[in-house]
Amino acid sequence: MDEQKKVLCVGLVCLDIINVVDKYPEEDSDSRCLSQRWQRGGNASNSCTVLSLLGAPCAFMGSLATGPMADFIMADFSRRAIDVTPVVWQVKGQTPCACCVVCPSSGSRTVFLYDTDLPDVTVENFSRVNLHQFKWIHWEGRNVDEQVKMIQQVQMYNSKLPQQQRITVSVEIEKTRQPLYQLFPYGDVVFVSKDVSRYFGFQSAEEALKGLYNRVKKGAILICAWAEKGADALGPDGLLIHSDAFPPESLVDTLGAGDTFNASVIYTLSNGDTSFHLIMRHFEVYGGSLQDALTFGCQVAGAKCGFHGYDGISRVTN
Ligand code: ADP
Ligand code: FRU
Repeated sequence: MDEQKKVLCVGLVCLDIINVVDKYPEEDSDSRCLSQRWQRGGNASNSCTVLSLLGAPCAFMGSLATGPMADFIMADFSRRAIDVTPVVWQVKGQTPCACCVVCPSSGSRTVFLYDTDLPDVTVENFSRVNLHQFKWIHWEGRNVDEQVKMIQQVQMYNSKLPQQQRITVSVEIEKTRQPLYQLFPYGDVVFVSKDVSRYFGFQSAEEALKGLYNRVKKGAILICAWAEKGADALGPDGLLIHSDAFPPESLVDTLGAGDTFNASVIYTLSNGDTSFHLIMRHFEVYGGSLQDALTFGCQVAGAKCGFHGYDGISRVTN
C-alpha cells in the first residue's frame, strides 16, 4: 500500500535559460557561448525530476502564471510523469525565470533568478491537497511563515495516524535568509546548505552539523552536503555519518547538484522496508539506511555533475 504513496515537493518552479560557456565572461563583454537551452528549474521542481527518473511516484506543488514559459514547464512535468495537480495558477505575476551560466572548465554555475512578483503557495492552497496520497513531503524553504503552517497541518494529520502511516517531513534551508532558519525545528529530515553553514561560521559539514543540531527537533536528522567534499549527516544517536563525493570523470554541469542529492536521499529514506518513523525507532536499521542514503545521494549527484541536465540519471542507476 505504502509503496504507491507519492513524495510531494513544495517550492519553486522556474524556467532556466542555460548558457554553457568555456570561460566565465567579463562584464560588458560580448561573446559566444558553447550552447544554450531552456530547462525546467527550481529546487523542488528539479528534485521531482530526479525522483521521477529514479522511479519514485512524485508530485509538485508551486506557483505558475499562464503563458509560454508555463506551457514549456507543464509539458516538461508531463514528460517526466510528475503529478502537477497541486500546482497553483496565480492570476497576478509572471512565471519565474533564471538566467544560468554553466562553466564546465571551472565547475561553476551562476544563476540570476527573478521570482519576486509571483505569489507563493499558501496554507490555504495546501489545505485543499489530499494528504492521504503522500508518504513524504519536502519543503524548499521560501515563504516560511506559510510553510510552517502547512507543516503544522501535516503534524495534525499525523497525530491521528499510527506511526507507519505518517507522512515524513523534510525541509531544505539553502539560502542565507534569516526567516528560513525558522524551519530547523520543523523537519524529520533537515537539509542545510554549505552557504548557510558558512554564514553561521562553520568551515565544514561536520562542524556545521555539530553546531546546528541543537536547532532541530528531537529525533530529527540533519544533513549537510559540501560539493566535492561529499556530505555528512547527524541523527539522534549522535553518530556522524559521512560519504565522500563521487566526482565524475570530468565536470560538466553542477546546476541542480544539490537538488539531485536531496532527491536521492529522500528516495532512499522513503523506500525502506519500513516507514521512516519506524526506522527511527531502530537505530541499527536507521543508521544503515542513513549511510546508504548519503552514499546514494553523493553517487547520483556526482554522476549528474558529469552530464548536462538530468536525463543521464536513468543511465547511471539502471
Ligand atoms: P548545490 O550547490 O547545487 O546546492 P552542493 O554543492 O551542496 O550542491 O552539492 C550537492 C552534492 O553534489 C554534494 O554532496 C556532492 O555529492 C555532489 N557534488 C557537487 N559538486 C560536486 C563536484 N564538483 N564533484 C563531485 N560531486 C559534487
Ligand atoms: C538549481 C536551481 C535552478 C534555479 C535556481 C534557483 O538548484 O533550482 O534550477 O534556476 O536553482 O535558485
